[in-house]
Amino acid sequence: MAVEPVVYGASERPPRGDYSRAGADYTCPQDYASYTPADHATYRRLYERQAALLPGRACDAFIAALPSLGVKDRIPHFDEINQRLYQATRWEIVTVPGLIPEVPFFSLLANRKFPVTDWIRKPEEFDYIVEPDVFHDLFGHVPLLFDPVFADHMQAYGKGGLKAHGLGACELLSRLYWYTVEFGLIRQKDGFRAYGAGILSSPGELQHAIASPEPQRLPLDIERVMRTRYKIDSYQQTYFVIDSFQELFDKTAPDFTPVYARVKTLDELSAAPAAA
Ligand code: PHE
Ligand code: FE
Repeated sequence: MAVEPVVYGASERPPRGDYSRAGADYTCPQDYASYTPADHATYRRLYERQAALLPGRACDAFIAALPSLGVKDRIPHFDEINQRLYQATRWEIVTVPGLIPEVPFFSLLANRKFPVTDWIRKPEEFDYIVEPDVFHDLFGHVPLLFDPVFADHMQAYGKGGLKAHGLGACELLSRLYWYTVEFGLIRQKDGFRAYGAGILSSPGELQHAIASPEPQRLPLDIERVMRTRYKIDSYQQTYFVIDSFQELFDKTAPDFTPVYARVKTLDELSAAPAAA
């Protein structure tokens, strides 16, 4: 095989993708011919269910950009999305066989390339899937790459990741990604809305994140985020809220070198709110 597969965390499961397809940068062509009619139907059903939940829950920028993904009754050709995306923000999506290691991931983002897994979940995983598939990656992440400020933030994150790798701070930076790009909330005039892909691609979490009284919703504080552990197997109990993508860009623009050094001396915080 060209490159080693990736498994995050302790797992007995072999990774799902076929990494023999990937080149040195972990990208490969989208294997469009391998999609079955059932795969296209899974995408269509996921899209329909999730699109119906967006009003009042997803942020305006996401709802406005979603139609730019194109067809919704089958898995889109990535090339077709790229024609619109490149024009809008000079970003492109590239195909990967599944999760990829930190350094190639950061390098792609730093070059305004977003890695999208091409395979889709099995029907029995309709409600819950452990690894990101094409629905999570496309529907969850790609619409906001059409937003110029968010798009610039993602590139800055990639460059910041390469730097964090050199500083031994990838874990701290990954918490920032988790609580913003995956599970971030934004405050609009009409209330909290989701911009994080992990929320936007999950029917249960989308309702929980916006309407549940249980989780705490804190203003984005970079140090606090970097100290906060996260749960990958349940709804979040803590969300961090921004007022605009410009706020996200500006708060992540300073040099994190001293921030990482300080956070490493502080205690970690629980993913859950402190007991009342
Ligand atoms: N400003 C961060 C640094 O100097 C890099 C960064 C930018 C990280 C945007 C996340 C998001 O390390
Ligand atoms: Fe994701």
